[in-house]
Amino acid sequence: MPDVDDILKVETEDRVATLTLNRPGAMNAINFDMLQALRSQIESIRFDPDIRVVIITGAGEKAFCAGADLKERATMPEPRVREFIYKIRSLFSDIELLNKPVIAAVNGFALGGGTELTLASDIRIASMSASMGLTETRLAIIPGAGGTQRLPRIVGRGKAKELIFTGRRVDAREALDIGLVNKICEPELLMSEAMKMAQMICESGPIAIEQAKYAINAGLETDLNTGLAIESNAYWITIPTKDRMEGITAFLEKRKPVYVGK
Ligand code: COA
Repeated sequence: MPDVDDILKVETEDRVATLTLNRPGAMNAINFDMLQALRSQIESIRFDPDIRVVIITGAGEKAFCAGADLKERATMPEPRVREFIYKIRSLFSDIELLNKPVIAAVNGFALGGGTELTLASDIRIASMSASMGLTETRLAIIPGAGGTQRLPRIVGRGKAKELIFTGRRVDAREALDIGLVNKICEPELLMSEAMKMAQMICESGPIAIEQAKYAINAGLETDLNTGLAIESNAYWITIPTKDRMEGITAFLEKRKPVYVGK
């Protein structure tokens, strides 16, 4: 087992931070230490102007994340279980609300909280070896880190109810067919595909990306007119930026823009 300091591997390359859940012997299941490590990374990435995109994946070839650590759970009195659920739910909301895009690179089993972590991410890319599902009802509990809310918003209520009530797992192909993931690829291409998408996002203006994410997330939770007002306010924020002028200037000068996030 990796010690607590290695429970989450963090690598930064070309403005992309890759967070790797690193408990392969436990299928990268999330325990309290992992929650804490993820929380602290997400908080520091929020204020790090050098990071534009986050990729989350799992160590090893078998699992992205097998959900909550059921061995740890077995030792917990009820108040501690409540604390875990509260903390994982608020962590996943922080990931959803992070001011930068998050790509989940699903490299194997993503069950329970593992699938919920991908649902809180903005974009999901799955390897052909992925197996995803909200399996909690099979343990006589329910998805508690946003799954009952985010899955129906992504795949529709009928499909979400089927998957949550049965606890059935879906393979990569079905995940793509039902819109649970954006893209599938061979396992050996997963990280390069995620990186390619991340790099393309990095070429765009970071303030624009932050505002677009905010407008989509906030707007989808309200009626169309309120959503359009949210979009308008988000657009207004981009107008006085240096990056907006750089985009126009680069176009006129027939060169690639260099955006600085100002
Ligand atoms: N928490 C803690 N340990 C876990 C775990 C979890 N959620 N999921 C897997 N592990 C551990 C296993 O206990 C095993 O450890 P061991 O070698 O000490 O016994 C190791 O990871 C390998 O898992 P194993 O079950 O032997 O592999 P498998 O390939 O046969 O099955 C899974 C893989 C993911 C399908 C299976 O482990 C599983 O169903 N896990 C639980 C998933 C789940 O219900 N998550 C929702 C939690 S709310």
